[in-house]
Amino acid sequence: MVKPKVLATHRLFDPARRILEENCDAEYWEKPERPPREEVLRRLKDKEALICLLTEKVNDELLQAAPKLKITANVAVGFDNIDVAACTKRGVIATNTPGVLDETTADFAWTLLMAVARRLGEGDALARSGNWKGWDLDQLVGTDVWGKTLGIVGFGRIGKAMARRASGFRMKVIYTDAVRAAAEAEQELRAEYRDMHALLAESDFISIHTPLLPETRGLFDAAKFERMKRTAFLVNTSRGPVVEEAALVTALESEKIAGAALDVFEKEPAIHPGLNRRNVVLAPHIASASLETRTKMACMAAENVIAAFEGRRPANILNPEVLKG
Ligand code: DGY
Repeated sequence: MVKPKVLATHRLFDPARRILEENCDAEYWEKPERPPREEVLRRLKDKEALICLLTEKVNDELLQAAPKLKITANVAVGFDNIDVAACTKRGVIATNTPGVLDETTADFAWTLLMAVARRLGEGDALARSGNWKGWDLDQLVGTDVWGKTLGIVGFGRIGKAMARRASGFRMKVIYTDAVRAAAEAEQELRAEYRDMHALLAESDFISIHTPLLPETRGLFDAAKFERMKRTAFLVNTSRGPVVEEAALVTALESEKIAGAALDVFEKEPAIHPGLNRRNVVLAPHIASASLETRTKMACMAAENVIAAFEGRRPANILNPEVLKG
């Protein structure tokens, strides 16, 4: 029997490869650098499934180059790289990887929050520099985290995982979201709802956990920074374009806010040069990058592909209307 052909734009992890190879004829882009777009389009000609990263734009151009495509499986929960409507129009299933990365991403948002508050980046650089002269009373003094107010923007699974961790720091947790959480969730997480204006004014740390949508693009602009406390820090592990980077740089330069810790950027992999400053911690989009979680994400994408080939509903389908046709 001829096995369905799959293209993965990355070599993936062994457990995911095993899932695929049992049932499919899988081709991987094995090189460490990203595949050139033309190469992806060329290889897709005879493929029925694509497993891709969030760096691949799944749009009309790609779909046109892949006339046999049945499913595109994103190895990420965020799917702003996928034109879902275009997929639906062509009867192509689109899937993502929700749920498996929530705790790992929240861990990392906390890593960033702690690092910027306690000036870990600067401390690490000094300790390695050979210039450290020893303990000093006012050396690299930062800001306390414990007992402060954490403002969470976007109270989905990751936002809630962020809130859960705050109780150990005896923090007050406030959140904002388009949809207010159920009373039980608010109680369990000891989180209080605020509208955006109140959250900006009250928070010592603001952590962003919204998806990138037309309504959230540029959500953090000059007006928002104006409303934040001068002593407050911004943490972003969601998507870069949720924050207007130029406005953030201006806010940092004019000391409208105290600092920022960022895992995501407006035009990745480019980073606004104005963010290269002492009160900013930078990371290269690695919030979900633990071996356990990235392996689970790759396996989930592979399982979504297998389900589609077996005529089952993929667990993480984004456009279920395709199945009704
Ligand atoms: C996602 O899954 O959307 C992240 O940005 C990568 O883990």
